[in-house]
Amino acid sequence: MASTFIQISLSFLLLLLTSPFSCATYANNHLHFSQKQQAEKLIKSFNLFPKDSINIATHDPSFVAPKIVEKSFSFPSLNYSGLSVEDLGHHAGYCSLQHSKVARLFYLFFESRNNKKDPVVIWLTGGPGCSSELALFYENGPFHIASNLSLVWNDYGWDMASNILYVDQPVGTGFSYTTDESDICHDEEGISNDLYDFLQAFFKEHPQFAINDFYITGESYAGHYIPAFATRIHQGNKAKEGIHIKLKGFAIGNGLTNPEIQYKAYTDYALEMNLINYTDYNSINLNIPQCEKEAKKCGTDGGNACNTSYYTCNAIFDQIVTLNPGLNYYDIRKKCNGDLCYDLSNIETFLNKESVRDALAVGDREFVSCSSDVYDAMQTDWMKNLEVGIPALLEDGIKVLVYAGEYDLICNWLGNSRWVQAMEWSGQRQYGASPTVPFVVDGAVAGLLKSHGPLNFLKVHDAGHLVPADQPNVSLQMLRRWMKGKLT
Ligand SMILES: *[C@@H]1O[C@H](CO)[C@@H](O)[C@H](O)[C@H]1NC(C)=O
Ligand SMILES: *[C@@H]1O[C@H](CO)[C@@H](O)[C@H](O)[C@H]1NC(C)=O
Ligand SMILES: *[C@@H]1O[C@H](CO)[C@@H](O)[C@H](O)[C@H]1NC(C)=O
Ligand SMILES: *[C@@H]1O[C@H](CO)[C@@H](O)[C@H](O)[C@H]1NC(C)=O
Ligand SMILES: *[C@@H]1O[C@H](CO)[C@@H](O)[C@H](O)[C@H]1NC(C)=O
Repeated sequence: MASTFIQISLSFLLLLLTSPFSCATYANNHLHFSQKQQAEKLIKSFNLFPKDSINIATHDPSFVAPKIVEKSFSFPSLNYSGLSVEDLGHHAGYCSLQHSKVARLFYLFFESRNNKKDPVVIWLTGGPGCSSELALFYENGPFHIASNLSLVWNDYGWDMASNILYVDQPVGTGFSYTTDESDICHDEEGISNDLYDFLQAFFKEHPQFAINDFYITGESYAGHYIPAFATRIHQGNKAKEGIHIKLKGFAIGNGLTNPEIQYKAYTDYALEMNLINYTDYNSINLNIPQCEKEAKKCGTDGGNACNTSYYTCNAIFDQIVTLNPGLNYYDIRKKCNGDLCYDLSNIETFLNKESVRDALAVGDREFVSCSSDVYDAMQTDWMKNLEVGIPALLEDGIKVLVYAGEYDLICNWLGNSRWVQAMEWSGQRQYGASPTVPFVVDGAVAGLLKSHGPLNFLKVHDAGHLVPADQPNVSLQMLRRWMKGKLT
């Protein structure tokens, strides 16, 4: 039994990646898969093989912070139908982080194709440790990478309704780098401070956009980043720190936010979707009390209690996957071919092309699509409950949208709907009593929506973990309507 679990160990949260593994309860210590091996699994499931496990530079003599170095760019392979680089409003830049030793965050900024007065949206991909450019090129960016490595415009890019930022973070991910390992983040405090510093520098550079509404969006492990970042901005605004950021809301797509509740939902979801039978259900559920206990201890004690619960709780997920060989746990309608669940490899080839690097002014920096070292560094953060900061934001009228593609196992809609429902705030009772109504897009039911006041939960039909990739049209209209306060 032990060896079976070891061989298949799984995954990551691509959160964007999937999750980890778990042999804690089954195997001896020397059989444990390291965090790094877990991260490598995740990376393989996207067919990504970054040359380095983290983006660390040997030296950076010119570091001054805070500072933005930005350029407008266009890609050599895309048809811009005669638009000038200025009209286009596509920018690539590095931001030197004020509270780091020597860290620079890389970002891409696409002005809206609709109206420059549209809200500013930031997108954060999960991992932890995966570049936000994965979403740009495969989910909701202005263009996608075709199989022949050319770019094709995406009619449903989120830049049709917003001025959108994609940031490579935490430091060490994508093109973001440092020369000092002490800049690598281990928790949401470090991450949200870096993002806040970035945003301040960005709006200083682009004051015309600082007056627009601002929204935070993202996926998977960003279910951790997003509430922490929103709280950081809200605190900064209240303390009149720096530039006021017009934070109006945040949206979490197939996220990991409240692990204690979400891990307990795996078996219920798996039973409902016929991934396991009732016998397996009962036997896997035997792990739940220990997982729950350790997750609570992580909340109170932090530190090693969090590492321990990571292994214990992931045993639940791993057993379900073990019973379903070849299952794509980001989309249970699909199979993984070997380790490969998606093929996102073109992004590495594309971003490492000399013409592309020149366009983006990243010099000879290598692109680290997903960093296993960054993943590793976040182990203690994984089981933390990030729901705790959300009620205070709701009370102050910040809009919250939690959405989930219905066929994702790893951050499934059931676990997400449960933590949303269980969250204590002044509207909890009314939210619980509110009806679940069809979410209609262009005359068709595209999902199921439950709302009260600033809080919305949306189960998205015909989609897995990567909602904007599976339902581009619906996801764009979801974003547009939510920002306008017209989801229902
Ligand atoms: C570029 O796009 C425009 C408008 O979509 C089209 O008319 C034109 O033929 C395209 N040019 C090339 C070289 O494909
Ligand atoms: C590459 O693929 C895209 C999308 O499939 C297609 O529109 C384009 O013509 C192709 N370009 C070349 C050079 O083959
Ligand atoms: C449940 O599934 C397991 C394999 O996953 C199988 O061995 C067992 O016989 C099944 N039990 C029932 C009652 O169908
Ligand atoms: C827990 O995780 C943190 C962060 O990855 C690591 O520094 C620490 O050594 C881990 N503790 C144990 C006991 O594995
Ligand atoms: C998708 O978007 C187009 C506009 O580009 C619209 O006409 C169409 O009805 C939309 N809806 C669906 C479900 O395809």
